[in-house]
Amino acid sequence: MKKMSRAALAARFIPSALSAAWAQVDSGRRIEIPGENGMIVRSFRFVDLESPVEYFDAWLTPIPHFFVRNHMQEPSEFDPTEWQLTIGGEVEKPLTLTLADIAKLPTHSVVNTLECAGNGRGFYRPQVPGVQWSRGAVGTARFSGPRLHDVLDRAGVKPTGKHVMFRGLDEAPGKVPPFIRSIPIEKALDANTLLATHMNGEPLPKHHGFPARALVPGWVGAASCKWLTEIKVLDAEFVGNFMNPGYRLPNRPVQPGESVKPEDTHPVTALNVKSVISGPLDNAKLKAGPLIVRGAAWAGEADVVKVEISTDGGSSWKPAKLGHEQSLYAWRLWTYNWNASRGDHTILSRATDNQGRTQPATPVWNPSGYFYNAYDRVNIHVA
Ligand code: MTE
Repeated sequence: MKKMSRAALAARFIPSALSAAWAQVDSGRRIEIPGENGMIVRSFRFVDLESPVEYFDAWLTPIPHFFVRNHMQEPSEFDPTEWQLTIGGEVEKPLTLTLADIAKLPTHSVVNTLECAGNGRGFYRPQVPGVQWSRGAVGTARFSGPRLHDVLDRAGVKPTGKHVMFRGLDEAPGKVPPFIRSIPIEKALDANTLLATHMNGEPLPKHHGFPARALVPGWVGAASCKWLTEIKVLDAEFVGNFMNPGYRLPNRPVQPGESVKPEDTHPVTALNVKSVISGPLDNAKLKAGPLIVRGAAWAGEADVVKVEISTDGGSSWKPAKLGHEQSLYAWRLWTYNWNASRGDHTILSRATDNQGRTQPATPVWNPSGYFYNAYDRVNIHVA
């Protein structure tokens, strides 16, 4: 088992000239450090990579441009032929599957927009501790593998089975609790919930959970446990750090500094409605004339029905054109043709979904900095 030191990780993800700067990221200052493939390095302690928004010009995000979020050290190198996945708990027939067993099961594909619950945390004021993501802890990929339903059917879920727990192989340093979370049985048995082994047609890369991860479409990324080693059917929600206090929201809006009792919170599940502007970039200096404003919009388990653009700081809104590529759980790309006149302009985008949700002007502040979804905004100067 080979572990990478922090220095080795830093050397791998950033040009050496910048390696001294990573200490400032770890110390909580929000500076943007360019990493491999143009990604923004948000943390080296455990690899956290953010996509710059200009990469959101493709419906399927290429793997080198797909964000990475790790709570701890990725698993050490292992021999995939020795990897095993156990399925136990409230089942009739506990199972152990190898990669070869999984490859024999019927495969299903789901195009899913995966977003970290903390995407946009860096915009909350007052600031919230945690990875200071900007807009790019999100990406869309085609995930493939057997349906989790088919795997659980082979083990036979007992009527007492109400939740399904996933455990990853990643390595928790010191007293850090392992990354274990659970989802309700209804979502686990949904026809689009996968035991994913492939991403955009390739075997899952190491960063994204090789050899198998859960894919819980439309839900926060944290539900989609990577490097799976154990699936356990439980009679109740799993009790552990990453279920409580982690990944919960207050049942009602709270003020910064107000204390919230655990019983007044609920787990984060499906994603919010949200859009981002991928071009022009913030602070761009452009020439007057025709300009295409572009971006992406998503809404978790709901469908985006409308994206509106304001080029006058929010006084008036016009509809953007939604791209033709679409799939349940996947973002829609959009464009808006505009004739830019000279001067300074603020461009805003806001999406609406088929559940009637619209992005708000002001986000709902919460102590963990989850679900930031205020209008997206870029300032440009047209000369
Ligand atoms: N699974 C394990 N085992 N360990 C982790 O740290 N991070 C989760 C989830 N699955 C995580 C995990 C979080 S918070 C997110 S947002 C997604 O993985 C990110 O998936 P990605 O790195 O493939 O983009």
